[in-house]
Amino acid sequence: MAIYNSITELVGKTPIVEFKRLEKALGLKGRIAGKLEYFNPAGSHKDRMALEIIEQAEARNEISPDKTTLIEFTSGNTGIALAAFAAAKGYKFNIGVQGGVSVERLKLIEAYQANIVDVPGELIAGVFERGIEAFEDVINYMSEGVPGAYPTYQLSNADNINAHYKHTGPEIWEDTEGKIDIFVGGVGTGGSTHGVGKYLKEQNPNVKVVITQPDVNDVLHPILNGVEDGGFHGIHAVYDGEKLNALAPKNYNADLTDEYVTVSYAQTLKAIHLLAKYEGIFVGASSGASLAVAIKQALREENEGKLIVPLLPDNGERYLSEDIQKVRHDIEDAVEF
Ligand SMILES: Cc1ncc(COP(=O)(O)O)c(C=O)c1O
Repeated sequence: MAIYNSITELVGKTPIVEFKRLEKALGLKGRIAGKLEYFNPAGSHKDRMALEIIEQAEARNEISPDKTTLIEFTSGNTGIALAAFAAAKGYKFNIGVQGGVSVERLKLIEAYQANIVDVPGELIAGVFERGIEAFEDVINYMSEGVPGAYPTYQLSNADNINAHYKHTGPEIWEDTEGKIDIFVGGVGTGGSTHGVGKYLKEQNPNVKVVITQPDVNDVLHPILNGVEDGGFHGIHAVYDGEKLNALAPKNYNADLTDEYVTVSYAQTLKAIHLLAKYEGIFVGASSGASLAVAIKQALREENEGKLIVPLLPDNGERYLSEDIQKVRHDIEDAVEF
């Protein structure tokens, strides 16, 4: 029997599941075993980063619940994770919210009673285009005049990478008994692919790191990229080349990347729906995109018998308001991987 002292003790040790029925249905040459990060207690791989950032700052005596207010500007999973662990540890948390956030993610932040701060529109306008400095301007604005303000700066905080280097990477290595051949992940802040990629390549330099990129030329792209309200949204939180360079210059490490693979939203949806249909596992859009990339890898002759591990960041329930569950035969049947 084990009684835990805090929800924070349950972060990590997420399961890896091989998608055997999916492999058979698609006639894949390689094997795909997904790392299901929605098993984290606040529901995504961002739990690892949020906890590492808080606990390392505690270890350096930089923060304490009685005097600190954590500050971050984020579109979702980081906010949810920080809100949950701020609550569990007794910290105040001021969050500024970006546009394009699914309703569920906003409501989850509300549920954990983080303090949602209004940021002037002109400061937020074009942050994605202006990149990391614009994000830090917003965070610095939010910190002004707040006693004990502690910005967590997810786009440049080394503990974002460290969380995945110390935990996610080793878990993948151990659970696959060192047999992983290909790791697939998307880049938002770049922390997960950097930390995992670095660890895995240190164990075996032949492990291939493949980065998922949403297709900017996708004809469905404008409505499917999470920028417009209503209807379908896109592959939230993972970026194509241009945004990636603007947003993740500090955390992301291109030197660790062996290949970039582009996916369309139609392929993403198809991957999500096949996983739900054959495995009873329902994931979010960035997971679907990386799964689609894993499927593309597994279809290659050269990857016969190889073990491919996509990192699947969160659960599809977080995007139901965007009808992510709806099978769209009109677009999905027409696409191949
Ligand atoms: C759902 C989802 N997928 C992927 C990512 C990208 O992960 P990372 O920030 O580790 O690059 C994020 C966060 O940015 C996310 O919330």
